[in-house]
Amino acid sequence: MSSLLIKKGNLVSESAISRGDILTVDGKIAAVQAGLEKPHPDTTVIDADGLYVFPGGIDPHVHMELPLGNGLVSADDFESGTRAALAGGTTSIIDFVTPERGQSLLEALRKRKAAAGKSLCDYGLHMSLTAWNDGIAAEMETCVRQEGISSFKVYMAYKETVGLEDREIIAVMETAAGLNARVTVHCEHGDLVSYLQKKFIRRGRTGPEYHPLSRPPEVEEEAVSRALLLARTTQCPLYIVHVSTGGAAKEIEKARAAGQPVQAETCPHYLLLDESRYRLPGFDGARYVMSPPLRPASHISELWRACRQGTIQAVGTDHCPFNFKGQKERGRHDFTKIPNGVAGIEHRLALLYTYGVLENRISLQQFVELTAVNPARIFGLYPRKGSLQVGADADLVLWDPQLEDVISAATHHHHCDTSIYEGLLINGKPRIVITDGKVAFREGSFSVEPGCGTYLYRSGGD
Ligand code: URP
Ligand code: ZN
Repeated sequence: MSSLLIKKGNLVSESAISRGDILTVDGKIAAVQAGLEKPHPDTTVIDADGLYVFPGGIDPHVHMELPLGNGLVSADDFESGTRAALAGGTTSIIDFVTPERGQSLLEALRKRKAAAGKSLCDYGLHMSLTAWNDGIAAEMETCVRQEGISSFKVYMAYKETVGLEDREIIAVMETAAGLNARVTVHCEHGDLVSYLQKKFIRRGRTGPEYHPLSRPPEVEEEAVSRALLLARTTQCPLYIVHVSTGGAAKEIEKARAAGQPVQAETCPHYLLLDESRYRLPGFDGARYVMSPPLRPASHISELWRACRQGTIQAVGTDHCPFNFKGQKERGRHDFTKIPNGVAGIEHRLALLYTYGVLENRISLQQFVELTAVNPARIFGLYPRKGSLQVGADADLVLWDPQLEDVISAATHHHHCDTSIYEGLLINGKPRIVITDGKVAFREGSFSVEPGCGTYLYRSGGD
């Protein structure tokens, strides 16, 4: 038997904030109450006085070692990316299988699972659909019934590589609805983006400052309202990834008020940074190229409001870092060639805590909901994950609100030479991170090995 007794923490769960103890036995939470005694001489006792105890963070949107099809692969692999995740208090991730067009979904899944096997934390997978034919419907059924994949991703942009036409998205949604699965959508009007990109390049407007101009807010807002319509018509549960504009949040709010089953996610970068970054001198704006792009500052308060009011239920990172040297630099003479994506997994909790909780934009309980409880509920992991209930996996974050740090690419665990949060102060960090009832990270040191994470079979979801 292995057990841990965490004493006198401030426990922040989905239902309450209370001072108490947590006993874990063989990887599960075995008791939660004040005044617990050590059940066995070998039980390790951890003093959590002055610390918060959160359920381990769940990042529902990451892309480790993502091949872009042009020779570039995102810079964190499953090992380095999950190491960074643990350092920041995230104990489960959901990455993606992205089959090549014509490739079997199940063959792509087999390869992706092999790559993900070196993870240091637990991992699940969404299945991206990059093409449509009748065979895919049968494979989707196998994903749901046998492979523990209850969410499918479609892209309305990137039509040259992974994006689908509306008629294909309708078929995906109808099939997913019949399987009680969810469809997650990257909402941007792909044809308009391509049109605007080509127009700027033809006119010699090649710098990173044209990236947001080729993907303006209405390109996202139109796609969000179209995705809502397609999902409503096919009666498909919908999850909108990386919402970046106030207008998109309003569309979602209206749909939810009308009773449509739709959930939404935003990312820390949309809550903290604005479009002016693309106008930094030289080519520095390239560091901030992700899609959708950062927005004018007025959107930021609307996104925080949407998080606070429950229109947005989850904060994921869309973690997909690319090095400045050798990767972002590929687009020095053509912004459309800058690989899209940024790092974020290590600092998701600290950024939300510092700039959300401490600045009274969200409550401590909402922080736990956005980073752990709701991702678990939406993607079929609750109450095994995202919970402090007896019987849940013992994935816990002992959070020290007194720890301060300054984010820097020089010290982060991401395998990436740049950070969009360079120089930002954080107040509050994990002191100890526990996975599967064992200390995985303590004050800067890791005590778990690559490969100790397990694949998360998921079913259903709220
Ligand atoms: O810019 C982004 N979002 N990169 C990651 C790939 C994707 O679009 O999800
Ligand atoms: Zn993504």
